[in-house]
Amino acid sequence: MPLNIIVGAQWGDEGKGHITYLLAAEAEIVARFSGGDNAGHTVTVGDQLFKLHLIPSGILHSRPLCLIGSGVVVNPAVLLREMAALDQRGIDVSPGRLQVSGRAHLLTPAHVALDQAQESARQGEALGTTLRGIGPAYKDKSARLGVRAALLTAGPEEITAAIGQHISAANRTLGRLWGAQPFDCAEIVDQFLAFAERLTPYISDTGITLRQALQAQHTVLAEGAQGTLLDLDHGTYPFVTSASTTAGGALTGLGVGPNTVGRVIGVAKAFTSRVGAGPFPTEAQGETAKYLRGTGAQPWDEFGTTTGRPRRVGWLDLVGLRYAASVNGLTELAITKLDILSGLERIPVCEAYELDGNEIAHIPMTSEELGRCRPRYVHLRGWQEEIGAARGWDELPPNARRCLEFVAERVGLPISLVSIGPRAEQVIRL
Ligand code: IMP
Repeated sequence: MPLNIIVGAQWGDEGKGHITYLLAAEAEIVARFSGGDNAGHTVTVGDQLFKLHLIPSGILHSRPLCLIGSGVVVNPAVLLREMAALDQRGIDVSPGRLQVSGRAHLLTPAHVALDQAQESARQGEALGTTLRGIGPAYKDKSARLGVRAALLTAGPEEITAAIGQHISAANRTLGRLWGAQPFDCAEIVDQFLAFAERLTPYISDTGITLRQALQAQHTVLAEGAQGTLLDLDHGTYPFVTSASTTAGGALTGLGVGPNTVGRVIGVAKAFTSRVGAGPFPTEAQGETAKYLRGTGAQPWDEFGTTTGRPRRVGWLDLVGLRYAASVNGLTELAITKLDILSGLERIPVCEAYELDGNEIAHIPMTSEELGRCRPRYVHLRGWQEEIGAARGWDELPPNARRCLEFVAERVGLPISLVSIGPRAEQVIRL
């Protein structure tokens, strides 16, 4: 034991990949537990930049076994592309390093088409999904109509029957409800037969592997995707993803019990970002937004890793962080991108909301109410120095330290890691 869980404490894109990569050096297993290739984890190793969507960030180290757990929805075409891209860059993605749960659900081209059709039908009320088919894949799973990765090991007859049935059903929905072009069933079946040939050695019962590893006192790192406020149950519904992104989701998504959990690390940016539609009380506009977002010239600027969309950005929201702390049972915070706040005179931090003339210090139950919340800010003193070269707490400017102390105190959690740039050595351990 233990299982250490890394989750996003905001709306995703907090820098979980960076923190996972760092902690993966000390883990025997790194496992993704939910979501799919809607996730985009950017990791800098030396002078190389990697963008991962399905494969855990631990793959960039030579040691840990990387697992794609049962709670993930896997687009095999994307997985194979990602494996090929890593292989080309000299990263070992053999079955000894990467395994996919046979219980994970497969995401097919029909799911992608359904996501696109549904989003365009919503017109001005689109959720702003990543259009990767995530919602339709989880919908099929809940409706007990899904196809699981284990199918790929079942032989050509079963694959042909199951994929054929799935595509025929999707064609009916696509045609009737959305007037979309049907898929050629035989073509998709052939694709999946080819996927099966490539992926069969990668499919196993990852639940057994994980439970045995934990029994043997090995360290397992659960790599979250998206963030707490995008959780299907606990996020800002309906502006959420279709998966369980919180710490509870790590247990169901991996098939392990709560007695195995050690640390639960909530990753939060020193400010906030959100992609897609939905309420965002501390959202900034104009010049401030441009400052926080960056121009897009740098890989760490606030533009989607998966979609390239400019992210909505705003100030740090302690109401949201306290919510993430309690929903996930966080043991600590990792604060990322503190360097982006360098150069500001004053740093607004939201301590509470005002809703209908009353001050509230919690996330309201509905997105409609959250949309009416106005942030109440405290203004912390900024610092002017660049901080990317700091290698310890004492090397941070006093006002940066005060800012972190303020966040830790108001959220009620220790801050164990602070990132001040994209490189591994730019993470200060506290
Ligand atoms: P979906 O997960 O593609 O269905 O998108 C649902 C919502 O979650 C949209 O607002 C997306 O922008 C958001 N979302 C999904 N994945 C991520 C992510 O990795 N980072 C940030 N937002 C995400």
